[in-house]
This record gives sequence, structure tokens and C-alpha cells, in this order.
Amino acid sequence: MTNKPVENASENASESPLTPLTLLGLGAMGTALAEAWLTAGHPLTVWNRTAARADALAVRGAAVAPTVAEAVAANRLIVVCLLDDASVDDALAGLDLTGKDLVNVVTSTPGQARARAAWAARRGARYLDGGIMAVPPMIGVPAAGPYVFYSGPSELFEEHRAVLAAPAGTRYVGEDAGYAALHDVALLSAMYGMFAGVAHAFALVRGEAVAPGDLAPMLSDYVTAMTRSIAGTAEQLESGDYTKGVVSNLAMQVAGKGTLLRTAEEQGVSAELLEPYFRLMERRLEVGSGEEDLTGVVDLLRR
Ligand SMILES: NC(=O)c1ccc[n+]([C@@H]2O[C@H](COP(=O)([O-])OP(=O)(O)OC[C@H]3O[C@@H](n4cnc5c(N)ncnc54)[C@H](OP(=O)(O)O)[C@@H]3O)[C@@H](O)[C@H]2O)c1
Repeated sequence: MTNKPVENASENASESPLTPLTLLGLGAMGTALAEAWLTAGHPLTVWNRTAARADALAVRGAAVAPTVAEAVAANRLIVVCLLDDASVDDALAGLDLTGKDLVNVVTSTPGQARARAAWAARRGARYLDGGIMAVPPMIGVPAAGPYVFYSGPSELFEEHRAVLAAPAGTRYVGEDAGYAALHDVALLSAMYGMFAGVAHAFALVRGEAVAPGDLAPMLSDYVTAMTRSIAGTAEQLESGDYTKGVVSNLAMQVAGKGTLLRTAEEQGVSAELLEPYFRLMERRLEVGSGEEDLTGVVDLLRR
């Protein structure tokens, strides 16, 4: 067993590239997945609560099941791409899943994924959980870098990895069914932190003679450059030494935050997105060392 991601597994190790499968859910993401599997030549059965959403896929050769039970009966491999965990209950309630391989790519929490794995086992199905790291236009476009985290039994992942790799790359992150969701939500959470900072930056220049379009490439480049610190944070967390390789120490950054808060005030911008992080930096300075990096904030967040 390994928790290290297996990247972009596109080779077919143990399975025909034409493995038939069933897809439940034809929203924006489900439709993109369906199109990619059809393009790759997989016989595909689809089902959607609102049947009309399957019409275009039927023209492209998908078999459209009139009921979810018939969709599930059609193939051993069932991919679920519904809205949320509750919709999986709604759609699959009371169905016989004996002998099925269920791959659930609905965005969920680690706890929901683990509960869903146990739920599937009680119904006689093998279970993989997935977390999609892409938006629909990236699906089926390898150059755009789409991928899906998978977790659950490694042999089940290996069995299906070729068919799963048709719409997007695959990254296997461990036997624990909750780990795909854990990785998915960790990345999404970092993304929202970045969005928050970007929103604050645009708010600062709003009303000034600075076009958002001029600031945008500077923001992109700077945020990208700062992502180089991520590996250093990981190293410090692994070593436990938060003073190793520090280039901008905590004491300096806590002192400097006043400039950011005053600038927000001068510009008439609420600092509500920045303040919680600055408070954590201050708390860390109180209990840690000014020579540290910002890594100690991670420990303060753990409850
Ligand atoms: N779109 C993205 O950018 C994106 C990116 C990454 C991950 N995801 C994940 O992919 C999953 C699907 O997203 P999406 O973009 O396809 O969402 P969507 O466009 O809103 O489609 C939702 C799908 O769920 C079905 N559904 C909702 N409630 C249901 C219920 N109670 N019973 C049966 N079916 C139900 C809908 O059926 P109807 O057509 O009948 O309404 C539709 O097929 C979500 O978990 C989402 O978080 C999406």
C-alpha cells in the first residue's frame, strides 16, 4: 500500500481500452466525462434524473437507460457523478449493487467517502472514491492537465485505471477511501485562500487609476512565485524545525502586517479576509520564535 500519488496513469495495464461502463449523472461534469469516454471508444450507458440531458449523448452512441436500476444492471463498472453525497442516496436507494464496482467522483468530505465505502460494501459492491481536480472544459483535454484523485483498494484502482484515465489523469492516493476527498478538499481550501487574497488585492486598487487588467498579470506572476514556499513549509513540517531555510521571518512579517492593514484602511477596504491570518501569525509569535517561518500557523489551526 502506498499513499504516494500515482500520476497520469494512462497506460492500459490489465484491461481492454474498450471496457464498457455506466455513468450516473449528466450535469456539466458528468456530460464532459461521458463525452470523453465516448471519444475514447468505451461503450457507455448513461442515466440522468432529467432524461433530456442524455439526448445529445445518445446521438453520439451512448446507451440511455430509462431507469437508474437498468443503468446499474448494464455494466459492472458504475461511475457516479451526481451533485453531492445526498443525491447519491436519492439515486441509488434500494438498488442491488451486488458484484458492482462503484467509482464515486462526487465531491464529498473524507467522512462521507468512508461512510459511502462502507455503504457500498454492505450492498455487495467494491468501492473507489474520486475527487476531480478539473473543471468540465478540461476533461478530455490532457494538455489542460485535468486529473482525478482516487482512493480505495489499490487492486480495484489498478483494474480500472485505464478506463478511468480516458477523461482525465489519475492520481491514486491510498487505500483509505477518505483520502481522495482529503486531497481534493486540501487543494480546494488552498485555492480559496488564494482567491481571498486576490479579491483583497483587486479591492485595494478599485477606484484608482490602475486597471484590473494591468494588475492581473502581476498578481498571477507574484502568486505563482510565492508558491515556491510550499515545498519549504512541507520540509519544515516534516523536520519539525520551523527555523530552517527561513527567508522572511515571523517577527518581521508580524511587524509588517501593520502596513497592509493601514493600506486597507487608507483605501477604504475591509481587512476581514486578511485579519484572521494575521491574528494566527501574532499568536504564533507569542508561543513560538520570531526566527521561525509562518509554518507554526499550521499547528495553531489543529484543534
Ligand atoms: N463542474 C465543476 O466545475 C466540477 C469540478 C470538480 C468537481 N465537480 C463535482 O462533480 C459533481 C457533479 O458536478 P456537476 O458540475 O456535473 O453538477 P451539475 O451540473 O449541477 O449536475 C448535477 C447532477 O446531479 C444530478 N442530481 C442532483 N440532485 C440529484 C438527486 N437528488 N437525485 C438524482 N440526481 C441528482 C443532476 O440531475 P438533473 O440533471 O436531473 O438535475 C445532475 O445530473 C459534483 O460533486 C461536483 O462537486 C464539479
